[in-house]
Amino acid sequence: MRIVLLGPPGSGKGTQGDLIEEKYGFPKVSSGDLLREAVKAGTALGKEAEICMSRGKLVSDELVLDMIQERISQPDCQTGYILDGFPRNISQAEKLEKAVPSAHEVVLDIRLNDHSLVERLSSRRICSDCGMIYNLQMKPPVKEGMCDVCGHKLIRRDDDVPEVIRRRLKIYHEQTEELVIYYRDRDIYHAVDGKGKVDEVFFHISSILDQLLGEFSEKEAVR
Ligand code: AP5
Repeated sequence: MRIVLLGPPGSGKGTQGDLIEEKYGFPKVSSGDLLREAVKAGTALGKEAEICMSRGKLVSDELVLDMIQERISQPDCQTGYILDGFPRNISQAEKLEKAVPSAHEVVLDIRLNDHSLVERLSSRRICSDCGMIYNLQMKPPVKEGMCDVCGHKLIRRDDDVPEVIRRRLKIYHEQTEELVIYYRDRDIYHAVDGKGKVDEVFFHISSILDQLLGEFSEKEAVR
């Protein structure tokens, strides 16, 4: 099963992706995390991506598609995976469908207004080592500045500063939101209200996934 998490920056794709991974066992494949790892490792991809990311712009389709294809060809993705942050425009969606068709696909579009997105991104912190996501208002760590899971330092992402947040939201509305129209008329599309608490949003997502997974296994049993 391919689970595509759509939604603007800060809507909770990463947070919900981690919970889906934990409950259903599908690995979360985050284009942003993979790009940040490449930047940290100083690879050729990382060097090219760093310039775009620090300005809140999208990295080139070809680079990102190659990176995603490489990741989802790994053995742990064979029964399914969660895409967080990819596709980011119609061209990426079309290329993905052509290169890696999926019989069982679901698109979960987490919706949230710009005001709440800015608030959430401004107070987000992530673990410098394991990437665990925190929020100074909604989900602070037990020990200030330290990751609850691995004890490493929490940092603010370079693109979580006001000017870059504004640019990322603009780019979302100009280039990524068109994906909603692209997917909306297909029965794989589900809008999810991102306003509630993390567990309320996850309850909604779980109810969609439980139903779909039930239907898929019934179909498999009939075959
Ligand atoms: P990426 O890392 O994908 O960033 P993004 O899409 O901007 O999304 P975020 O990670 O900022 O937010 P999120 O929706 O995951 O929210 P989160 O769960 O963290 O991309 C970064 C950059 O990489 C891009 O700008 C681009 O340059 C490049 N890139 C990536 N993919 C690309 C692609 N496909 N093509 C080209 N370029 C690409 O939550 C946010 C905060 O809110 C956290 O603090 C969290 O604790 C809190 N929170 C979450 N849910 C709730 C809730 N329900 N209530 C209260 N607080 C909540």
